[in-house]
Amino acid sequence: MDQQIIYILAIESSCDDTACAVLANDRVLSNVIAGQKVHEQYGGVVPELASRAHQSHIVPVVDLALENAGITKEQLHAIAFTIGPGLMGSLLVGTSFAKSLSLSLGIPLIGVHHMQGHLLAHFVDTGAPQPEFPFIGVTISGGHTQLVLVKAYHDMEVIGTTQDDAIGEAFDKSGKILGLGYPAGPLIDKHAQKGNPHAFEFPVPKAPGLNYSFSGFKTAVLYFIQRETQKDPAFIEKHLDDICASIQYTLIKILFKKIEKAVKSTGINSVAIGGGVSANSGIRKKLESKQEKGWKTFIPPFEFTTDNAAMIGISAYFKYLDREFDGLETTASPRIQM
Ligand code: KG4
Ligand code: ZN
Repeated sequence: MDQQIIYILAIESSCDDTACAVLANDRVLSNVIAGQKVHEQYGGVVPELASRAHQSHIVPVVDLALENAGITKEQLHAIAFTIGPGLMGSLLVGTSFAKSLSLSLGIPLIGVHHMQGHLLAHFVDTGAPQPEFPFIGVTISGGHTQLVLVKAYHDMEVIGTTQDDAIGEAFDKSGKILGLGYPAGPLIDKHAQKGNPHAFEFPVPKAPGLNYSFSGFKTAVLYFIQRETQKDPAFIEKHLDDICASIQYTLIKILFKKIEKAVKSTGINSVAIGGGVSANSGIRKKLESKQEKGWKTFIPPFEFTTDNAAMIGISAYFKYLDREFDGLETTASPRIQM
């Protein structure tokens, strides 16, 4: 007998991207993302503007995801949504929409933790090898930097976290100091590929155990740039590639110092990265190079690195198999823990 196909429609609206995906079991049928250009002029996400933009994007994004998947609403088995963490006004739009849709279709509702989604993106069927449990998950995004012991699909323990800024913020704030656009992470990555990573030296902040700290790094970049531009106002322009390469080199060094420590202390050498910063070319290369040390490494395809709804859909699929559903009284949880 053929196995029944479970169709799940997933919505992600935790920050500034309105995203919807449709999955058939662990395969992605459609993956639609509407970004929000409105924040660029402010150099960061403005929560009020984000929730407004989600309101206007959500219906067309969901319609397009269904159309691209080639199925109708009536064929769906469940509606998934990001329950948190994220911005309250943004989460509310996706949560309320998902609840209404599940109520009107009479099908289960499944809330998904955004960061668990980033890690479970590795289980979308792309033909690539998938991690086996347990593994070390590294969530690196604009809001998080965490080392996570992933024991099962929905059994995760945070073993290290940042005490201040996230690594994505370190990229974005450094980029802002350099006058780059927002988000600056991808721009720093682009310039870094043409520069010398050893041109300038930046400090590696200390943090206890498996934790991280990035705020001192950002301050060091600020003082360095202020000092150098006082001597030569054209300093940034003349050395942009080298500055970006040196910033990226140091951030990767900070990141991997604790990943290596986690591998040593847990004895688990299977490492999977997730989150927007895992799109970074230097981080991807560095992780791949660890295969020579016997690590098993997992890097998500680009479309599943930055915020997307496919990762919410795949997380919901495993919850669906376990019949882990949410009631209609569920609320968005901006500060939900892993
Ligand atoms: O996961 P994500 O899309 O949203 C959050 O949940 O935060 O991550 C966004 C972050 C931003 O800080 C952005 O600058 C960073 O991911 N990012 C990158 C790259 N692409 C995106 N950082 C470094 N290199 C990249 N190529
Ligand atoms: Zn994210």
